[in-house]
Amino acid sequence: MAESKAQGTTLFSPYKMGKFNLSHRVVLAPMTRCRAINGIPNPALAEYYTQRSTHGGFLITEGTLISPTAAGFPHCPGIYTDEHVEAWKKIVDAVHAKGSVIFCQLWHVGRASHQVYQPGGTGSPISSTNKSISGRWRILMPDGTHGRYPAPRALATSEIPAVVEDYRHAALNAIRAGFDGVEIHGAHGYLIDQFLKNGINDRTDEYGGSIANRCKFLLEVIQAVVAAIGADRVGIRISPAIDHLDAMDSDPLGLGLAVIERLNKLQLTLGLKLTYLHVTQPRYTAYGQTEAGRHGSEDEEARLMRTWRRTFQGTFICSGGFTKKLGMEALAQGDADLVSYGRLFIANPDLVLRFMVNAPLNRYVRATFYTHDPVVGYTDYPSLSKGSGSHGLLSRL
Ligand SMILES: Cc1cc2nc3c(=O)[nH]c(=O)nc-3n(C[C@H](O)[C@H](O)[C@H](O)COP(=O)(O)O)c2cc1C
Repeated sequence: MAESKAQGTTLFSPYKMGKFNLSHRVVLAPMTRCRAINGIPNPALAEYYTQRSTHGGFLITEGTLISPTAAGFPHCPGIYTDEHVEAWKKIVDAVHAKGSVIFCQLWHVGRASHQVYQPGGTGSPISSTNKSISGRWRILMPDGTHGRYPAPRALATSEIPAVVEDYRHAALNAIRAGFDGVEIHGAHGYLIDQFLKNGINDRTDEYGGSIANRCKFLLEVIQAVVAAIGADRVGIRISPAIDHLDAMDSDPLGLGLAVIERLNKLQLTLGLKLTYLHVTQPRYTAYGQTEAGRHGSEDEEARLMRTWRRTFQGTFICSGGFTKKLGMEALAQGDADLVSYGRLFIANPDLVLRFMVNAPLNRYVRATFYTHDPVVGYTDYPSLSKGSGSHGLLSRL
């Protein structure tokens, strides 16, 4: 969007995202919360997502497993069996009843896993490489302790089509469950990012080496998913400049541009737009205190994000370290169409309303991000009380 058009745009301006009419621009970022006991979505998830639903709002689910080898955290939901589909239906219906649009984030962690999360509790996690994640990072084990990431097993070239098929199958299941669309998780050092980044991908086949080769797996996944459910129900998430789980690239700007140019080309070929591109910016690392180190100055980060934003021909969602003020600025400057909020949304189920009325925000409790209690740290963050003068606005949401 040109800057002149963006002027006057706020977090509360409506937005037409493809076929979806959104009433505001505060998006729930995808967040793993480990409450789907044994992988099956349950009423606690329905409560969590409906608490964060608003009329015309947009929610993206936590990373949702596309296959039995995809897990790297305890109690993440799946979307690869009929039981998953039936369980998700109830959650999606509840969210729709509150007027929100909801996409399912399709996730395979690749090498960010452990034997305990693999089928039968054995077998190496799969990846683009045989190299393990360095000791700088630790995996959350089912018993709550933290362990070393084991060595993965590089997928043989001939095995890759089956993994692409898992994404396609999961996307079809998501639509069967009633989701409005899917987000393909190509970010944060997980399987797709393990192919994209040259700090990880050391393959010598057609999926490694040049940028074009490293983009091939992502492109094949996108093409398969788009062919199955339609481009207008598919969003893509990438994080070229984020080094989470050692996902370093020697040229983050060039890698991001290479992906975006391919998305633009695909859209031209199809004559259809993807629903959106969602990019996590490195500020997340600086603001979040959850990650070690950052790549560059804030000016440099802003330059990267602007370049990608201006190159992508479609809806652009940014994420990472946004406050209300920073989100407002990003929209007014035309740096994004929508802003996704993670940690603030964990702690503030009524974040949109709180932003509207400038209410103080609850603080998030990091210690319960990944615990399994269906209520504590999950659905027990308070909403504004009825006496807060927010009645009129509540009816709008
Ligand atoms: C507890 C937690 C879990 C997360 N899980 C996911 C996930 O499953 N998929 C994903 O793409 N990003 C995940 N993220 C990243 C968020 O989507 C978001 O980009 C990040 O928190 C930065 O936004 P924030 O500064 O508003 O929190 C997670 C973040 C947190 C804090």
